Amino acid sequence: DQNKFQAIISHCKEYGFIFPSSEIYDGLSAVYDYGQYGSELKKNIKDYWWKSMTQLHENIVGIDAAIFMHPTTWKASGHVDNFSDPMIDNKDSKKRYRVDHLLEAHAETLAPAEGEALLAQMDELLKENDFEGLKKLIEDNKIKCQVSGTVNWTDVRQFNLMFSTQVGSVAEDASEIYLRPETAQGIFVNFLNVQKTGRMKIPFGIAQIGKAFRNEIVARQFIFRMREFEQMEMQFFIRPGTQKEWYEKWKEERMKWHLSLGVDPAKYHFKDHIKLAHYADAAVDIEYEFPIGFKEVEGIHSRTDFDLKQHQEYSRKKLQYFDTEINQNYIPYVIETSIGVDRMFLLTMCNAYEEQDLSTADKQDSRVVLKFPAKLAPIKLAILPLTKKDGLPEVARELMDTCKQHFHCYYEEKDSIGKRYRRQDAIGTPFCVTIDHQTKEDNTVTIRHRDSMEQERVPLEKVKEMVLLEINR
Ligand code: GAP
Repeated sequence: DQNKFQAIISHCKEYGFIFPSSEIYDGLSAVYDYGQYGSELKKNIKDYWWKSMTQLHENIVGIDAAIFMHPTTWKASGHVDNFSDPMIDNKDSKKRYRVDHLLEAHAETLAPAEGEALLAQMDELLKENDFEGLKKLIEDNKIKCQVSGTVNWTDVRQFNLMFSTQVGSVAEDASEIYLRPETAQGIFVNFLNVQKTGRMKIPFGIAQIGKAFRNEIVARQFIFRMREFEQMEMQFFIRPGTQKEWYEKWKEERMKWHLSLGVDPAKYHFKDHIKLAHYADAAVDIEYEFPIGFKEVEGIHSRTDFDLKQHQEYSRKKLQYFDTEINQNYIPYVIETSIGVDRMFLLTMCNAYEEQDLSTADKQDSRVVLKFPAKLAPIKLAILPLTKKDGLPEVARELMDTCKQHFHCYYEEKDSIGKRYRRQDAIGTPFCVTIDHQTKEDNTVTIRHRDSMEQERVPLEKVKEMVLLEINR
């Protein structure tokens, strides 16, 4: 449903979740900034992942590696040679397209059965790296350039997706380095540092959250595909031969994590990769049903000993582990879980967004509500004195001072209570508390629940505990 997706994009902008990057200069394609509520939501998503991975798994520790790495890293990892997508240029408009995106867009204009047949053909050709076949498929379908409307295509060529830049000030001694296209390599090159200093025993994992950069050619669909994005990755080091079992275990574990956020299980499915990345012997995506269809949020990859072996070869440093249980030295195998922060953000937003018609017989009314899980909501509690006088703001301020030590609160005394509730609904605040004249008499307040819109009268001193209970659920 494109309309719902567009409505969510507008809502993100209007309520301070996401802005186009450098918008006053008309933005930068596929780059976005997170606003005052977006950055809180994003941070809460990262914290929830980090805690579930590191604090709740005794055998997983976290690191924070640099974005810049020695250039040989990317030779060894295979990214210099293999991290590319087949592209095609239109000779008239000089516009460049990713072949799969071009064909996918065309498939959407066809009848469903025809579209599927076209994509099946494309998958086959992509798998075979048959560039001539791909070009022919584009020509046979008379696919037009979306800008110039012409059909003059160049040959299909591979373009690397890594961004490069120079370190060093003088051109002659400057050396070319890459902005990391995945955070995983920072974990691989630190494998022995962490294993030795942390006295880690296999099986164990290393987790990391950080920025990654890819020069995506066709960047559409809002924050779904960005040029600068963030990943939450975990490499789990295991004994060779046990990869099937750990792969299944991590598939299950990661799906549990998603469902723990209260998403309807029917909105998720696993999708096996048809074309395996250069490092994997098995790979699956966790897909979520966005308003624009089922799409990848997370990947679970059985990466074998590919990366460590390559780094051992290129660095000439032994990257082995002595397993005292079986008295053997070996290069560990790896199961990776890799989820995009921004995609998880988009998922959370799409899953929470609801337009509700609240009209009654005598009154038209509606609201947009973001039903975030309380632990992810940017603001947990709005504190609203009914009026600006009679000592109500003072009581409200006192509650604010107590609660803000524990969670994010929002204080507001402008406009009618109804309007203030709607604004909090639109940013997903699970609780609103109103301080009124009765509060001055009996120390009770009205607490309003976002999803049911029910209100109850509770003792003022209970508010903090009620909110904490919900956040920590
Ligand atoms: N280390 C393995 C790896 O990077 P990937 O499937 O290329 O695997 C993992 O990426 C996850 O990173 C994806 O499932 C997606 O959530 C996120 N991701 C990848 N490219 C992205 C992009 N251009 N914009 C936003 N998120 C992206």
